[in-house]
Order: sequence, then C-alpha cells, then structure tokens
Amino acid sequence: MEIRIFDSQLQLDEYAANIFIQLLARKKDAVLGLATGSTPIGLYNNLVESYKEGKVSFKDAYTFNLDEYVGVTPDNEQSYSFFMHKHLFSHVDLQAEHIHLLDGMAPNAEEECASFERKLDEKPLDIQLLGLGHNGHIAFNEPDTSLSNKTHVVKLDDKTLQANARFFSSIDEVPKHAMTMGIGSIMKAKQILLIVRGADKAAIVKEALQGPITTQVPASLLQLHANVTVLLDREAGRMLV
Ligand code: GLP
Repeated sequence: MEIRIFDSQLQLDEYAANIFIQLLARKKDAVLGLATGSTPIGLYNNLVESYKEGKVSFKDAYTFNLDEYVGVTPDNEQSYSFFMHKHLFSHVDLQAEHIHLLDGMAPNAEEECASFERKLDEKPLDIQLLGLGHNGHIAFNEPDTSLSNKTHVVKLDDKTLQANARFFSSIDEVPKHAMTMGIGSIMKAKQILLIVRGADKAAIVKEALQGPITTQVPASLLQLHANVTVLLDREAGRMLV
C-alpha cells in the first residue's frame, strides 16, 4: 500500500488526476471505477480541465459507478447519476453507452445488481476510485459481521444517513437503501485509489490502514489488495504512524 500525504487539496487532486491521465494515455479503453461524495469533486474538476486542454480523452474509456440510492430518479439532484453528469460526464467525451450506473429506479433491484455485476465481469476494472465513510465504509459496504462480495442492495447505517443528511432537506429524506458494488467487485480492480480528506476522518483512516483487518471496518480489507494508492490531506493523515 502506497500512502501519500499532501499539504494542499490542489496538489492531491492533481496527483489523483494524473493517475487517471497516465492510465488513459497507455490504455485508451481503460475501465474506470468511479465514486461520488464530496471528496472526488476536485479530482473531477481537474480531469475536466485536463480534457479541455487536450491532455486526456475518455472517448474509448468505460466507467462503472460504485453505488446509487434506491428509489431516487436519475434527474433527482441527490442521485449519484446526477452527480456524475454534473461533475464529469457532461463535460468530457465519454460515450453514453460506455457509462455504467446502477439504476435506483429499477423495478427489480436485485436483478439490477446482478446485471451490473455481469457487466463488471465482462469489463474488469483497471482502476477503482474510492472515498471513505466515517464508519469505514467503502461505496455503501457498511460495517457488519459479514460483507457481500458482489453488487447488492444494502440498508444504510445510521451513521451514513446522518453523514449524507447534509445533502437533503432533512434526515428523513435520505433514502434508507442503496445498491452498491460488493467488496469482491471492488477488490477485483487491478488498481485501487483511495482518497480521504479532513480531520474528521483521521481516526477511521488510521483504523482502516493500520488497524486490524475486519468486516467492522470495511476499508481495512483494502490492506489485502496488492495495488492500493492512498492519497490523504495532512488532516486525514495526522494519526498515522
Ligand atoms: C457516501 C458514498 C461513498 C463515499 C462516502 C464519503 O456514503 N457512498 O462512496 O466515499 O460517502 O463521502 P464524502 O467524500 O462526501 O465524505
């Protein structure tokens, strides 16, 4: 596991963006696993700027997004589909049919997850971008006594509902269920890029990266992956030894 700590957000975003730019330069049809949340917005901004400057093209690339709320339409501003179009997809030359997003309105959520997993099997991820939840979740794989391997439907943890309430008018509005790639779907990626910012994540960063490997801290399983890069700002990395 390679851990890098940055003094400025801009440097972190630029470093992260360069990982994608270099991957696409050597493999233009790379399969990119993408994430939502506030953490990757700077990275996406950087990729959009780089695209406009002609430094990168997504024309032949494929994308898979980690997760989506159940029962939220793609045109709802809180949906992860809306987020991805707003911050990245509508600004670059990705082909619409190369974008894979879980459909939160699918009539059969289980079947939607199974179909997504089949597509992932056909197009293995070259890189998976991840953020980190305050409870150690990755995507929406919440702490539990066991974890699901494949893309599945989850009931969101109270801590996650509270953390995500800032995006909704009240906590009651936060969807209680989501669809998410499983731990196995994520761990199959050839490379994993975990980005974490902020003092409020320092304790969970330490647990995840240097604590015991446990399903109670889903991100700790990343310690078992052979090619993980972790990018932290000073605050998020301050408890690491
Ligand atoms: C959400 C997403 C995760 C994300 C996490 C952290 O619950 N499902 O994929 O990593 O929250 O979000 P943020 O970057 O806003 O702290």
